[in-house]
Amino acid sequence: MTKVFIGVAWPYANGPIHLGHLAGSILPPDIFRRHNLLKGNEVMMVSGSDQHGTPITVTAEREGVTPLEVAERYHAVNKAAIEGMGIGFTLFTKTHTENHIEVTQDVFLTLLRNGHLYAKESMQYRCPDCDRFLPDRYVEGVCPKCSAERVRGDQCEHCGTTFEAGDLLGPVCVTCGCAPEVVPTEHYFLRLSSFESPLLEYMADKGWWRPNVRAFTENWLKGGLVDRAITRDMDWGVPVPVEGWGDKVIYVWFDAVIGYLSAAKEHSKNVGKPGLWEEYWKDPGVKHYYFLGKDNIPFHSIIWPSMLMGYGGLNLPYDIPANEYLMFRGGKLSKSRGGAIDLPSVLERYDPDLIRFYLSAVMPDTHDSDFSWEDFAVRVNAELVGNLGNYWHRCLSFTYRNFGRIPADLGDNGAVDDRIGESLGEIAGYLDSCDFKKALKAVMDLSRYGNRFFDSAKPWATLKGDRGACGSSLNAALRIAKALAVASWPFMPASAEKIWEYLNIPGAIESAGYGAATEPLAAGAELREPAPVFGKVETEGGTMETEGYEAFRKLDIRVGEIKRVEDHPDADRLYVVTVDTGTERTVVAGLRGHHSKEDMVGRKVLVLVNLKPARIRGVESEGMMLAADDGSLGGSTVCLVEPTGGLPNGARFDCGLGTPDSRVDFKQFQEAVMEMRHCKECGRFAAFVVDGDRAIPLSDGGDARAVVTVGMEEGARVR
Ligand code: MF3
Ligand code: ZN
Repeated sequence: MTKVFIGVAWPYANGPIHLGHLAGSILPPDIFRRHNLLKGNEVMMVSGSDQHGTPITVTAEREGVTPLEVAERYHAVNKAAIEGMGIGFTLFTKTHTENHIEVTQDVFLTLLRNGHLYAKESMQYRCPDCDRFLPDRYVEGVCPKCSAERVRGDQCEHCGTTFEAGDLLGPVCVTCGCAPEVVPTEHYFLRLSSFESPLLEYMADKGWWRPNVRAFTENWLKGGLVDRAITRDMDWGVPVPVEGWGDKVIYVWFDAVIGYLSAAKEHSKNVGKPGLWEEYWKDPGVKHYYFLGKDNIPFHSIIWPSMLMGYGGLNLPYDIPANEYLMFRGGKLSKSRGGAIDLPSVLERYDPDLIRFYLSAVMPDTHDSDFSWEDFAVRVNAELVGNLGNYWHRCLSFTYRNFGRIPADLGDNGAVDDRIGESLGEIAGYLDSCDFKKALKAVMDLSRYGNRFFDSAKPWATLKGDRGACGSSLNAALRIAKALAVASWPFMPASAEKIWEYLNIPGAIESAGYGAATEPLAAGAELREPAPVFGKVETEGGTMETEGYEAFRKLDIRVGEIKRVEDHPDADRLYVVTVDTGTERTVVAGLRGHHSKEDMVGRKVLVLVNLKPARIRGVESEGMMLAADDGSLGGSTVCLVEPTGGLPNGARFDCGLGTPDSRVDFKQFQEAVMEMRHCKECGRFAAFVVDGDRAIPLSDGGDARAVVTVGMEEGARVR
């Protein structure tokens, strides 16, 4: 049996983990783990709370409690939240344990014995006012490489450069604000420089690493590896196991990465097989996957591999599928800098599977992605409830009501089985390469196929006339439902298991695996009474209607600037306008009589750029400028809407609702209702996207709005 080891970056126990952690490093490995279980592989997946270091001491000082208290409190909170989200760690432990301290000290001493560590006097920030050495997080300054401001003493979170004391420009002590001095102190150093060529060799065949991971790592290697201090002048952490070093501890990063090994050992002891960890760490055939956010890349692609090489005989990371950041209103979701959406409170409000679905759909795997609760509601209601949930419920409830058991298959729907096989192959292929978004999309496509199949089989029409054929098509529909339960289990395990139960299939999905998805159903077996597995997301204004927002979401609206305006040669109400939306395009507009040419040139406008090009009286028009049209004032007032916020040409106005279609036609455009309203928040007369009784301002997802200045009635249409 194939074994797979999965390591998940250890979240600091200095606060509740949030949706950024979940989407970035915790949910992806759980999907991957479940996928491997479906393949019949054996998985060991470990992580835990990173309890040492300054993230904990800073919080403790702020609260006036001990570091231990903070570390234990948030370990309990986060462990419970992770379980609540359905994340199935083999072991989620913590670093402040006897086991971890022992394993860390063993690694330290082994590296020391093998000549990879040496003690050296080095320079350290020290605050004369606070009268103490300043750990990395207690110092902030300007990054000498990228000039980002207020970066911490150890690493620039913008460009990834790591620092030694003295590197930062204009350093200040975070506690008291004065300039720290740089003074000598003795520390152990990891001889990273000597791992340069082994690391290059190690990296050489890792063609499957994601581009961001390769780039980050290559950058580091290119700059030349510098030996790094791995001890610190503080008392919270793993004590340095050398005589005379009692007042220093091992650097938190050095101890945290060792957690992958110590957790494997701890689990082995827990289950009474103390040698189990060796099967994962010493058999070179076992692949090790590490899931983390991009700021953790070098620690897993350079430092941890170096430590493992120096220790000897243990498996190195095989893949490091690091994610980018999940952004919330343009800022990184981060608990240390505000803007967090913590898991415990999310769990109080929402079904974990809805969150898992949405975060999988917007996972920041290749670039930063945006999170918004509006988008969450739209996608859950439209795709999860409207597509997958709808499919499951309509075929299960129809069959349950009319047959009560699984009807016989007359063998007349082979195409369905072909499609199921194809889809599952595709999904498993994507998951093998950690391409989670694509895999989820393929699951939803299979569900769409199911809906189409059900529509065209029309079991409600054949039920009376040909019960046999009706039953056979339902059997096929249920085969799709079952395949969907298997394929969606990595993403939405609790819901998939309910479907499994309604289908009354013995055993668990986990042990049935992918193989079961293509096996025939046991005709005659009783069904259980189904209920819808996903509920619509309610928002403050009641259930969120999705039609209007759904239609809007397809539109690609960009900021543009009018460059030239000419009369249309063959139509006296039309202009031919050249507008720069990042690139120049021609738009035919019916604005003659409403705006003069002079009034238009140089104006910023909003342009629908994915409208199917059309010839209008012989001139090709590649889009449409949004204008408010007030039919109510007898005759009509038409006025171009104007984006506020000084955005560059080409910037999107999507209200944070997400991905547009590549093309829309005019009818689709009309389905998205936009109208002018006085904004209660900012007082401006601005365009709103309307959906049932709800409306959100037409915006770039942030503060920029679409406004007009001429007099118009509330409710004037934007078109
Ligand atoms: N605690 C670190 C963070 O949240 C991650 C540590 S990952 C480990 O950024 F590998 F070191 F455990
Ligand atoms: Zn920088």
